[in-house]
Amino acid sequence: MTLFQTLLDETISDFEKQYRSKPKWLVFAPGRVNLIGEHTDYNDGFVFPMAIERYTIIAAGPSQNVPECNDKNQKIAQIRTKNLNQTSSFLLEGEIQPTEKVRWSSYVQGSIACSLEKGLNVEPFCAVLNSNVPIGGSLSSSASLEVAVATLMEAMSGQTLNPVDKALLCQKAEHLFAKMPCGIMDQFISALGVKDHAMLLDCRSLVPKMIPLLDPSIVVLITNSNVKHSLTGSEYPERRQSCEEASRILGVTKLRDVSLDMLESSREKLLGLENGDRYYRRAKHVVSEDIRTQTMAQALIAADWEKVGEQMYASHESLKVDYEVSCPELDILVDIAKSIGFGGGMIGSRMTGGGFGGCMVSLVRADQVDDVSETIRTGYFSKTGIKPTIFATRPAQGASILEQ
Ligand code: GLA
Repeated sequence: MTLFQTLLDETISDFEKQYRSKPKWLVFAPGRVNLIGEHTDYNDGFVFPMAIERYTIIAAGPSQNVPECNDKNQKIAQIRTKNLNQTSSFLLEGEIQPTEKVRWSSYVQGSIACSLEKGLNVEPFCAVLNSNVPIGGSLSSSASLEVAVATLMEAMSGQTLNPVDKALLCQKAEHLFAKMPCGIMDQFISALGVKDHAMLLDCRSLVPKMIPLLDPSIVVLITNSNVKHSLTGSEYPERRQSCEEASRILGVTKLRDVSLDMLESSREKLLGLENGDRYYRRAKHVVSEDIRTQTMAQALIAADWEKVGEQMYASHESLKVDYEVSCPELDILVDIAKSIGFGGGMIGSRMTGGGFGGCMVSLVRADQVDDVSETIRTGYFSKTGIKPTIFATRPAQGASILEQ
């Protein structure tokens, strides 16, 4: 049985146990891995993610079938998370305000509130949500939750959103309710991913280009460092601000509008300013990452694997040195990958997602994937004392309604 089927069965049986009826609606939304193009989305640049075979699934039914979910005074939903074994009530009308403290329910409430605002009309419901996207693993567990909720709202209302609008409303939910000023990448790929394809997304035009990833001799391997440093929350907005400040100094709307030549010719000017070195290095990462992302997409189409690998390692180095969002554990993983080398079946590796922990993404030769995994596992454990979690995934389908 596939992991997806197991997760689905578990979700349905939890719903039946909880609410003593069959769910009427079933939806899912995947997590994602970003192959390259990190911290470029909020600079209007390029990203190259794909949806992964890890999902958030929601089973739901109308509250009228479930007496304890009926509230005569208010229009509410009752939603339970199987992962955390917690249940919360969610307002479906009036002014919906974010809570002070961000919890799992903030993502759900945010997505409900923003879907209602988009005109999706729903009646009171009860639901169970269940996810096998690792939480805090830089694989977009939060985006998959937001997108799954918005997809459920579509299923229940019988209305269909333009998928780009759906991604945008989920991003808004994350900004307002989870208080995380994220870019558009995670919600976009979770909502619009296509099976067997990676997505080269221009984050300015929001026009995706789907690139087939069908070669059976290549595997996308994800290694979870199983660490998450607490810096994640505070550093992300700081990086965003630095990029905005660098754009202002360079006289452009976004760093997307800066070329490497332009950056180099402004170098002296930047270095003369307070924190100028920092602005220069942040901008250098973003500008060079945009070039690497487009180069890697082309190299992938041409099956030029050496070039693909070079872009991945260079991306990691830039994130480590210039953008300063890596961490010792991710650097150890990438060093192990490099030591395996092309001959050992390792095409390329880099940290993926926001940074400060989470996962490394690698492209690996399928016939050598077992040896590669073993070398990573033992090497990482011997250097850190931490067991990594390693899995291969194919590009998965974006959010869908299974039953309506
Ligand atoms: C997080 C954000 C994304 C993106 C990445 C870094 O995942 O949610 O929008 O900025 O970090 O590339």
